[in-house]
Amino acid sequence: MKAVLCRSFGGPENLTIEDIPEPQPGPGEILVRTSVAALNFFDTLIIAGRYQFKPDFPFSPGGELAGTVAALGPGVEGWRIGERVVANPGWGACREAVVVRASRVVRLPDGVSDEQAAGLTVTYGTSLHALKDRARLQPGETLAVLGAAGGAGLAAVEIGRLMGARVIACASSEDKLALAREHGAELTLNYGKEDLREGLRRLTEGRGVDVLYDPVGDKLAEPALRSMAWKGRYLVIGFAGGAIPTLPLNLVLLKGCDVLGVFWGAFVEREPETHAAHMAWLFEQVAAGRLSAHVHAVYPIEQTPEALRLLAQRQAKGKILVRP
Ligand SMILES: NC(=O)c1ccc[n+]([C@@H]2O[C@H](COP(=O)([O-])OP(=O)(O)OC[C@H]3O[C@@H](n4cnc5c(N)ncnc54)[C@H](OP(=O)(O)O)[C@@H]3O)[C@@H](O)[C@H]2O)c1
Repeated sequence: MKAVLCRSFGGPENLTIEDIPEPQPGPGEILVRTSVAALNFFDTLIIAGRYQFKPDFPFSPGGELAGTVAALGPGVEGWRIGERVVANPGWGACREAVVVRASRVVRLPDGVSDEQAAGLTVTYGTSLHALKDRARLQPGETLAVLGAAGGAGLAAVEIGRLMGARVIACASSEDKLALAREHGAELTLNYGKEDLREGLRRLTEGRGVDVLYDPVGDKLAEPALRSMAWKGRYLVIGFAGGAIPTLPLNLVLLKGCDVLGVFWGAFVEREPETHAAHMAWLFEQVAAGRLSAHVHAVYPIEQTPEALRLLAQRQAKGKILVRP
């Protein structure tokens, strides 16, 4: 079978496309035949050896996928060969078939296409966990989303709107903001042009934001924290901007606000029932047309390096998919 392989840490140009034998699922595992794999920003970090986990070589990038059940390992029951599923192996999806632990496979209902489903798990799963479980976002509250046209950001815009929040999309260009507006943002702020803190003060008439969703970090983190309302919740999602920021704790004290860590991967392991309920809710919303699961582009598997470059160069809007 065809697979994208990372044989040593480096940039996307370092990846190779190779023919490898199809793997066999072991105890507790399922072999999933890939229909479409989805990329995330963290794939650019994993292949560079800059992520929180480092798979053994050679490995394939691709944290999630939609596909069909191809084979069951010993002891795995309750699945039919050929049924449609999504899976989030963490890495390894950019190949024609991938072995996944059964606990990381979820049945895919009718009414949700493979393209919509492939990239739903990580970004929408993270945003739902962040906004619902961590921030306890309430209808009528103000939610500011940084990197609002990225995978995680756009999911937060859509889910925040669905939860009844007033969403302020913040991004680096007008076309990214236009997309966020199409997906439910009421107000927009271009932090490529305007100071983030000034802009959020202006848009909230000095009150500050109740919940701030931050997948960017770096230089945006401190002005974002300075923009919190009294008893606001600042969600630490990720550091796509590069640097992991340090925050002055006096701001947390002065604003009586919370800084909340969001670690979706650990949540899935520790709270599998809540994760399953979240996935069911997300599929329901997509099937009903209330969440878009917006796809920027679908690339053939041979062009995975090109697709990863788009993410690394800050050009992706919504999800980038790869089809074997
Ligand atoms: N905590 C968790 O459990 C969890 C789960 C999933 C993802 N994450 C993290 O969330 C972050 C976003 O992931 P994603 O897949 O949504 O990424 P993405 O689609 O690439 O979006 C990231 C956004 O960050 C902004 N950005 C600012 N500086 C950037 C730079 N130098 N390079 C790339 N983007 C830059 C961009 O928006 P502008 O151009 O508008 O600034 C971009 O749209 C990553 O750090 C990822 O690891 C965390």
